[in-house]
Amino acid sequence: MRLLDVGCGWGGLVLHAARHYGVRALGVTLAHRQVEWGRRVIAETGLAGRADVRLLDYHDVSEGDFDAVSSIGLTEHVGRARLPDYFAFLYGKLRTQGRLLNHCITRPGGRYPLLLRNGFIDRFVPDGELHGPGHIVSTMHDAGFELRHEENLREHYARALTAWEENLSAYLQEAVAEVGAAKARVWRLARIAFEDEWLELHQVLGVKTERGDAAMPLRPDWERDHLRAREPASHATTRRESESKAAPAQTAATESVSATAAAGEAAQRSPSSVPASSTGTTTGMV
Ligand SMILES: C[S@@+](CC[C@H](N)C(=O)[O-])C[C@H]1O[C@@H](n2cnc3c(N)ncnc32)[C@H](O)[C@@H]1O
Repeated sequence: MRLLDVGCGWGGLVLHAARHYGVRALGVTLAHRQVEWGRRVIAETGLAGRADVRLLDYHDVSEGDFDAVSSIGLTEHVGRARLPDYFAFLYGKLRTQGRLLNHCITRPGGRYPLLLRNGFIDRFVPDGELHGPGHIVSTMHDAGFELRHEENLREHYARALTAWEENLSAYLQEAVAEVGAAKARVWRLARIAFEDEWLELHQVLGVKTERGDAAMPLRPDWERDHLRAREPASHATTRRESESKAAPAQTAATESVSATAAAGEAAQRSPSSVPASSTGTTTGMV
């Protein structure tokens, strides 16, 4: 199983996929500090040979025929005009029946013009342009992908940001010294943006289907083991709840990554190898 993670950040997904799923994973990022850190951890954890993080524009990845491509938080940096080429490029990196998981912050309808280019996001998130989920789905579809699953992880992201905010508060002076008070305050605002529905986070799974064979189970099965382990199923925590019941950030982040890797892992399976007991849910990620 080979995974390409475009815009891999510090390499968390690459490490997780290699360590827990035996995946051979390549991550690419434009930030050299991320590459240094990721490579050091890969070496320290004995994953060299299975995991790699490179300082590379995703356009310059020369390898192809990946079983899965993940894009987590990169689409925000791809302007509307370049979106068709972006999806076409990722499509070209997959083998037949390979999967793309595209996960990004989106804007909810046209209600918030401040979020558009030259607005709030553009000022505080460098090179950022948010698309609506419908536009992402259509553009991905037009690039050739068969769309298999879509979900909004807005509340989940607010939970992750609650924990980031706690970390940020603990190190606020250092953050202000590094980026200034205005930017540090914006970072603290991020959670509210997701809780109050001015931002969403959509995750779309597409397959490079050929001749009708998508190698997908009839129902999504990636939540099954997780759901079994929980009792009873809980609902996503909102800001109001989180004040009394803070969710560990690490859990949300790790679970997201693990489901992503599981989605990629499932790309290897043929429909006939899916267990008959597989029921799944339509959610796909926790
Ligand atoms: C918001 S971060 C997301 C990081 C990671 N995927 C995560 O979820 O934590 C965006 C990442 O995309 C990378 N990036 C932006 N444009 C890129 C490009 N053209 N090619 C490769 N990486 C890019 C940045 O360097 C950064 O690592």
